[in-house]
Amino acid sequence: MAIANRIKQNLTGASLIRLVADEGLQMRQQSDKPVWDLSIGNPVYEPPQEFRNAIIDFLRQDSSGYHRYMPNNGHLSARAAVAQQLEKELGWDSISPDCVMMTVGCAGGISLTLKVLLDPGDEVIILSPYFVEYKFYIEGHQGVPVVVPSTPEFQLDIAAIEQALTTQTKAILINTPNNPTGVAYNKESITQLSDLLRAHKDKTGKVVYLLNDSPYYKLMYDESSYVDPLKHYEHTILMTSFSKSLSIPGERIGFVFASPTCEDLESFVPAMAFASRVVGFVNAPALMQHVIPKLVSLPTHVNEYKAKLERLGGALKEAGYEMVWPDGTFYLFPKAPGGDDMAFFHALKEHRVLVVPGSGFGWPGHFRISYCVDDSVIEHAIPAFEAVAKQFLS
Ligand SMILES: Cc1ncc(COP(=O)(O)O)c(C=O)c1O
Repeated sequence: MAIANRIKQNLTGASLIRLVADEGLQMRQQSDKPVWDLSIGNPVYEPPQEFRNAIIDFLRQDSSGYHRYMPNNGHLSARAAVAQQLEKELGWDSISPDCVMMTVGCAGGISLTLKVLLDPGDEVIILSPYFVEYKFYIEGHQGVPVVVPSTPEFQLDIAAIEQALTTQTKAILINTPNNPTGVAYNKESITQLSDLLRAHKDKTGKVVYLLNDSPYYKLMYDESSYVDPLKHYEHTILMTSFSKSLSIPGERIGFVFASPTCEDLESFVPAMAFASRVVGFVNAPALMQHVIPKLVSLPTHVNEYKAKLERLGGALKEAGYEMVWPDGTFYLFPKAPGGDDMAFFHALKEHRVLVVPGSGFGWPGHFRISYCVDDSVIEHAIPAFEAVAKQFLS
């Protein structure tokens, strides 16, 4: 089939993640022995009982009309519930539901936001190590990704970001707390970035939007240490979802919230609704929009993930691995012993343990562990990590 060259190139670019998935598939096909798979960020927990109850209650009641098309930004009941929850979280008064757009997961929200903001050739700064899909989203909407490395502590390198800013910069796309590092940006990073973007506007007259891709903000190990960009920079747009916090990534429900102080907010909202139609999402799933108002304030499995981190991260440290300790998420991004993440990946694979080499995130020499797995996977993987560390460190 004559697939577009751009897609062919993207498929080649995504090959490292594919390599891990293919290796896992092959290992499972070739042997009945289990594979200890720490490569995928798929929550191990079932959704909360309240989620099931809300669906069952909804199906039992008269839901006439609810399954039809709706305004593209979503049902008012869902947007109002999200707006109310944001008021509590941010300590803000009267957030209008019009600043909220219900989306097909967080990915759907990122894609729509970029479609709405980018003219061909507009630049979007992303920070390495980055979520693999960013380049594809940006290029897919005719933008140009500009990669800026983070500091060794995985904070923002403000001087490097300053160097990367041009009159073509439309947005900076950050992810806090971060996949793959698990680290959240501290107050210094966020305030300095906000000051830098304001200074850039003063100098060039151009607003740079701060896009916060934040599907893990409910998974902070110390909730109070989350520095919310919305509180620091007026042109911030939050893109998030319930995928990780409620363990429902397959249900594809999330939202975009544009700060009420965002430049051009009046055009942004109808533009998002239009973009949703033309990319073919049309609207977020109706059933999920119905149940979300009952679920927005539910607690997450953050303590359980923290216990998994302490067990696995503790064992890795003891075995000699070096890492920046995560603030949240369910990812850990240690240095690959010996420095070659591909060699490390293959050595670990010999023990039937799968992780993702850091090269896949634009950060070679490290590897990502997803510890959103059953405790038994962690217990089986630890001896393999210990053995491979000995192999590379001795
Ligand atoms: C950083 C980041 N952004 C966005 C997404 C997409 O989230 P969703 O499944 O809600 O679309 C993910 C999923 O793993 C992610 O890690």
